[in-house]
Amino acid sequence: MRRKLLLGNWKMNKTVTEAKEFASAAAPLLELAKAHHVDIGIAPSFVALEAARKILPPDFIVSAQNVNEHDHGAYTGEVSIPMLKDIGIDWAIIGHSERREYNAETSLACNAKIKALLSAGMTPVYCLGESLATFEKGETKSFVAHQLEEGLRDLTPDEAKKVVIAYEPIWAIGTGKSATKDIAEDVIGFIRRSLRERFGAVAEDIRILYGGSVKPNNVREYMECPNVDGALVGGASLTLDSYEELLRGMI
Ligand code: 13P
Repeated sequence: MRRKLLLGNWKMNKTVTEAKEFASAAAPLLELAKAHHVDIGIAPSFVALEAARKILPPDFIVSAQNVNEHDHGAYTGEVSIPMLKDIGIDWAIIGHSERREYNAETSLACNAKIKALLSAGMTPVYCLGESLATFEKGETKSFVAHQLEEGLRDLTPDEAKKVVIAYEPIWAIGTGKSATKDIAEDVIGFIRRSLRERFGAVAEDIRILYGGSVKPNNVREYMECPNVDGALVGGASLTLDSYEELLRGMI
């Protein structure tokens, strides 16, 4: 049985002060989530990770939004896995479409990060998703299959089992135009079949999230899809009220 997961991706929002306020008020939500077998978490900016980690209970996931695959060295502006581990962070979002677009991250670059995270015993949340043009050409599945193949290249089934996948169609991110639940289930079901072909039975244990304009008023629809194991949420995760409503929509 796969546990549901609600993960708020804060992107470049909230100062450390704001993150502390949110974390202090969000901590009690963990009990509600646990009672309904849902995992919850937030992904603040690098500078707010330590404060959020200190405030939130250990089972409340606090994730980075990116990481560098090298342990240390001359990589100006980057943050390493040992730096994250030192402040108690063991999750990282990898390959978000915004990083692919603005920072030219490729799926093979993501593969290096995913392998480094897994070697360090951390959990990668690997993001996939197609542009509007690809969607309109009807090429979503071949595009996503390619991202999946490169991003998870050379992983063993045991390693693949530890990765969380997030399907986020770019045309649905921050646009208010969410994919219908049928589209989400169709693509996520396809992702699971591809994982089964490559990694075998562990595909049934891999959590696959939907992301892209998930809101309190549509989250329940996605949760009804048999292959959708949770949500990666941007805008609607930023206020506590809305975050709590998202959680209530998942239970
Ligand atoms: P929105 O929920 O704001 O559309 O963002 C989705 C997203 O990119 C989460 O990673």
